[in-house]
Amino acid sequence: MTATSAPLVQRIVVKKPGGFEQLQLTEEAPRPLGPGEVRIDVRAAGVNYADAMVRRGLYRTAKKYFGYPLAPGFEVAGVITEVDPAVTDLKVGDRVIAVTLFGGYSSELTVPRSLVFPLPEGWTFAQGAAFPAVYMTAWFALCELAHPRPGATILVHSAAGGVGTALVRLGKIMGLTVVGVVGASHKVEVARAAGCDHVIDKSTQNLWKEAERHAPKGYDVVLDANGVETLGESYKHTAPVGRLVVYGFSTMIPKTRSGRTNWMKLAFDFLRTPRFSPLDLTEKNRSVLAFNLSDLFTRQDLLATAMKDLYGWLQQGLLPPSNPRTFAFSEASEAHRQIESGQTTGKLVLLS
Ligand SMILES: NC(=O)c1ccc[n+]([C@@H]2O[C@H](COP(=O)([O-])OP(=O)(O)OC[C@H]3O[C@@H](n4cnc5c(N)ncnc54)[C@H](OP(=O)(O)O)[C@@H]3O)[C@@H](O)[C@H]2O)c1
Repeated sequence: MTATSAPLVQRIVVKKPGGFEQLQLTEEAPRPLGPGEVRIDVRAAGVNYADAMVRRGLYRTAKKYFGYPLAPGFEVAGVITEVDPAVTDLKVGDRVIAVTLFGGYSSELTVPRSLVFPLPEGWTFAQGAAFPAVYMTAWFALCELAHPRPGATILVHSAAGGVGTALVRLGKIMGLTVVGVVGASHKVEVARAAGCDHVIDKSTQNLWKEAERHAPKGYDVVLDANGVETLGESYKHTAPVGRLVVYGFSTMIPKTRSGRTNWMKLAFDFLRTPRFSPLDLTEKNRSVLAFNLSDLFTRQDLLATAMKDLYGWLQQGLLPPSNPRTFAFSEASEAHRQIESGQTTGKLVLLS
């Protein structure tokens, strides 16, 4: 039961889509616990590039199913403070990680039991909150969609980023040769430390010439969340029977001081984004796959399989905890400014 005198819940809410200033700290009454749910005292919330798309109003699921005002955030770590009687395998005081379709930027969260997982032994809350979204994304891209065979060669764009480092780590677990691409020289060591066999620094090197040098016959899998700037060449550098996995469009969003959307550029980039013809795909013998994680929150079968694999690798010591950069909850705008700068490495996390 929720006590009526329970403290107010702090949430970082996007009042209406827009720039960094739209992220505002609000206080709300706690939500009642639903059947089969648990209440979590959130200690850390992961920040993802997708949260910035939610803030900008460019994340379709946010608009379609929820609308604004809306608290962004797909992942948290914290301590369970209340458990619905239908939940028998978790208890108050358990340290957990949870995923959520929005609402993670909150000091407290109620979520269905199926979205809650144990915080690995010895991990901080920040490390826990940095884990699920990027690894679920990487798992879905590599293990579910592309599933390359051991020995295959893959090209990972933005290999020093949140999803990028997760893709590199999973690629190495799967026995792949991983070529990572980064957009700035300070990211080279981060990509290498994640496990890249080769790193291409596209700020100083010719990306596609280097990519050809490392895989003259093309790549078995290319993982591209850049969109318009690299998608055409990513397709060309996918080997016959290979797969191009598309999962984001970051280069459509200019790095601006305000965080507001440049609709002219967006429209222009939309028009010049490559279209893939079924005739060409068949003739070239390549596949283009694309996804977004939103549906994974309701696909218990996929989520459970992803987490079983990921926790299995964790227990074998194959997935070390990350070292996320942390911000206070009140600094959510700054965290968005940083992730949109394109200069960050690894994960960003808000501490409550
Ligand atoms: N489909 C899905 O379900 C799903 C789920 C999670 C994430 N994503 C996508 O995966 C990508 C990575 O997400 P993340 O949270 O891990 O972020 P991140 O990789 O840590 O940060 C974004 C990176 O994208 C690159 N980039 C290219 N153009 C950019 C621009 N105009 N502005 C900012 N960055 C730009 C930069 O790396 P380099 O310069 O080194 O390339 C930057 O560091 C995003 O596009 C995100 O939307 C998709």
